[in-house]
Amino acid sequence: MNLARNMTRLLHMPGKLEVFSTGTKEEIDSLRKQFGEFKDEFESLPHKMAELKDDIDAAKMELTGLTQILENVEARAAVQMAQQSASILRAVLRQRSAMRLAMPATDPDAAQLISPVEGHKSLAECYELLSREAPIAYEIWRRLVDVNEATYEGCPVHSCSVAGHEMAELFACFLVPYLTGTVLDIGCGPQPFPVYLREHPPNHIAGIDPLLPVDPHPFTFVQGICEFLPWEDNLFDLVSIATSFDHVLLIDRALDEIHRVLKPTGHLVIWTSFVSGAAVYDPYGSDVAPVDEYHLFHFDRGWFEELMSKRYVQREMISLAETSGSCFYSFQPA
Ligand SMILES: C[S@@+](CC[C@H](N)C(=O)[O-])C[C@H]1O[C@@H](n2cnc3c(N)ncnc32)[C@H](O)[C@@H]1O
Repeated sequence: MNLARNMTRLLHMPGKLEVFSTGTKEEIDSLRKQFGEFKDEFESLPHKMAELKDDIDAAKMELTGLTQILENVEARAAVQMAQQSASILRAVLRQRSAMRLAMPATDPDAAQLISPVEGHKSLAECYELLSREAPIAYEIWRRLVDVNEATYEGCPVHSCSVAGHEMAELFACFLVPYLTGTVLDIGCGPQPFPVYLREHPPNHIAGIDPLLPVDPHPFTFVQGICEFLPWEDNLFDLVSIATSFDHVLLIDRALDEIHRVLKPTGHLVIWTSFVSGAAVYDPYGSDVAPVDEYHLFHFDRGWFEELMSKRYVQREMISLAETSGSCFYSFQPA
């Protein structure tokens, strides 16, 4: 480049200065010419820098555009992957129905075993105990129970596990390998028969919910709450909780109660959803407030699994969270 050459020449100026004093006219003219060229080049530098800056700015804009395109492609790929893995999971879940055929037959005399203990607490007595244990949270929770009841009116498919509820049907498939012997469904809801239990004989099922059903349940039903379960110890082979666990007031008490009524070989199967980063729920404090119109709290997956690990061993987990927010878990008593 001329500039570099001229800079080198300038560095040799002391030698050239000698030429000024001793050199010929031609040498001096040539030096003047070189100096003139160097000056022109030097003066054109700001213009060249401005051009260079424009080039850099254009390249930056192009890079930003490309990054944007790449991010869009990545986001679309992530969504597609999530959808694909969700549809694979759905297919795998549907396959589980075939396992039903290989399941041992259920004892026909079991029905008499799932009656609640005589003289168990009434719903009002349970409420009284709740209000003593967690007075502030209890007041809010009671209002939420009423709000939720209004949303279940007519058992709409988006709120209740009735025929046509896609996730409830998938949960039914997830349940298949566990659906044996005596079953307790916690928060069984207002619909007479939750679809996820329809493969099981009603006389082997017990359900509990503070809400009465729209039509009588065809299984043993207690109007109550899972914080105080009115059944004997070690009675159930399966305890199921379908979208009800994040409606419970005292989840630690509920988990202790489920542990008590579950056989040591039994399973606790939970269908729940998570809100990432949801605060750890403490119903006993004074700063309890609803997190939305229907819930006192949401589960975050981290603290949900930690809470469960205190009393139960996780056996299985299928997450459809990317597409539906739902996760299915199975646990056994630790
Ligand atoms: C979203 S619904 C789910 C009903 C049903 N499992 C289904 O999938 O359609 C939640 C249910 O949990 C019940 N629930 C709320 N608190 C409860 C508690 N402490 N013990 C038992 N059930 C409770 C509600 O009354 C409601 O019926």
